[in-house]
Amino acid sequence: MNIIILNGSPKGNLSVTMQYVAYLSKIRPEHQFNIIHIAQRIKLLENDQTEFNQVIEQINHADAIIWGFPLYVLMVHAHYKRFIELIWERNAQASFAGKYTASLSTSIHFFDHTAHNYIHAICDDLQMNYVDYFSADMNDLRTDSGRQELTSFFDLFMNSITDHTPTQPFYQPLPASNFIYSPAPSIVPLPETHKKIVILHDEDDPASNLGKMIARCADRFDGKATVVNINKLNIKASCIGCLKCGGNNQCSYIGKDDYIEFYKNTVMTADILIYAGRVVDRFLSSRWKMFFDRIFFNTHTPVLIGKQISFLISGPFSQVPNIMEILRGFFEFQGANIVGVVSDEMDNSPALDKAIDNLALRLAASAKAGYVRPHTFLGVGGMKIFRDDIYGRLRTVFDADHRAFKKMGIYRSFPQNSLSITLLNTFIAPIVNIPFVRRKFDQIIKEEMVNGYKSVIEKASG
Ligand SMILES: Cc1cc2nc3c(=O)[nH]c(=O)nc-3n(C[C@H](O)[C@H](O)[C@H](O)COP(=O)(O)O)c2cc1C
Repeated sequence: MNIIILNGSPKGNLSVTMQYVAYLSKIRPEHQFNIIHIAQRIKLLENDQTEFNQVIEQINHADAIIWGFPLYVLMVHAHYKRFIELIWERNAQASFAGKYTASLSTSIHFFDHTAHNYIHAICDDLQMNYVDYFSADMNDLRTDSGRQELTSFFDLFMNSITDHTPTQPFYQPLPASNFIYSPAPSIVPLPETHKKIVILHDEDDPASNLGKMIARCADRFDGKATVVNINKLNIKASCIGCLKCGGNNQCSYIGKDDYIEFYKNTVMTADILIYAGRVVDRFLSSRWKMFFDRIFFNTHTPVLIGKQISFLISGPFSQVPNIMEILRGFFEFQGANIVGVVSDEMDNSPALDKAIDNLALRLAASAKAGYVRPHTFLGVGGMKIFRDDIYGRLRTVFDADHRAFKKMGIYRSFPQNSLSITLLNTFIAPIVNIPFVRRKFDQIIKEEMVNGYKSVIEKASG
């Protein structure tokens, strides 16, 4: 079978993910594996139509397509997403339709599911036959079980093609909207706040819905917000995965473009951050993705702690819950507080005015209160992955994170570092679990569980 692998790693041949493909090609020599380096060559594919057409020509002749990519900041790499955008911009969807496909990623399992959700949705939009995903830990190929699982995944994928297995689409096509937002001319500005407010957007058309939403929000803050179009920032490209940042947060782009200075001086110093963008395919634009990827100069260290975050979105945002999953995961891990989202899906200008005005009000109130809501599984679970990996296998490469995690007390959440938990588990747990004690304990557990809260409630006053 002629299998095309669309390589989403900016490292090209030096990609870890492509080692998984190399392994498959070695153990299944009866198939032809053709790797196309997408993320690494995006500038060429974007600027040279012939190069892009050659990729599409290879797709046309393929029996199967594997989307092979590393996780980059809870998603696929920005350059890979740009390629996906080009498929639509250059009307090349038909070449993908009906092809059997699967996705194969490597990562440390931090939001790998959202990247696969994204690719699956793209495949459904392209009317491909999406069979399955395989999300390997970056080291799995070095283990017997990892190699066995990979082999089974591949063989089952090949069988599906031979058997013409029917595939189930997961994602409905996205609805189009022709709603035109007409904001009311009058607006009541919020009282002056000493908080630093930054609106970041990628909207070049001030007359679009999003352009008007941004303007309304800026007006509500009485012109006190710094409004920045990230398209106009000098950002050369997305992260190249060189990991120079690991030792000292020294990104290889230092001195080459303006991203890092901008991020440090404008984003990291803000109290309130409003991100505005359009839904482009199944996420925001690839420009936005590039903006998020480049944050990796801070590697895994949260740098937005306590900031108030919100989103202004144009497009079918509520139809793509994966977007919010990614944003929530990202900002919770960053230690920020998501205040809310407003999109132009409400198809009603006065209601949209009100929603934007209210969002600004809530942002100001949350900033004033220093409010950060407890994180969900996304933030709590995500941070535990980083804590364990930075303490463990990734420490050598990410020494800057290790130093920061120590300073920030992130390692203090290891249960084995808590004296009270150690004492509890060493002395109390064995006694409680003696069968006759346990029987008694089971009778009082519910009461005991609330006992610890009683004094808190007793002491509380209005
Ligand atoms: C900039 C950057 C961002 C990353 N983001 C994630 C992430 O969000 N989730 C995750 O599990 N791994 C993440 N990783 C780890 C890579 O996905 C992992 O190392 C992968 O195996 C690299 O594959 P490649 O060599 O094919 O590029 C990131 C790595 C880099 C360099």
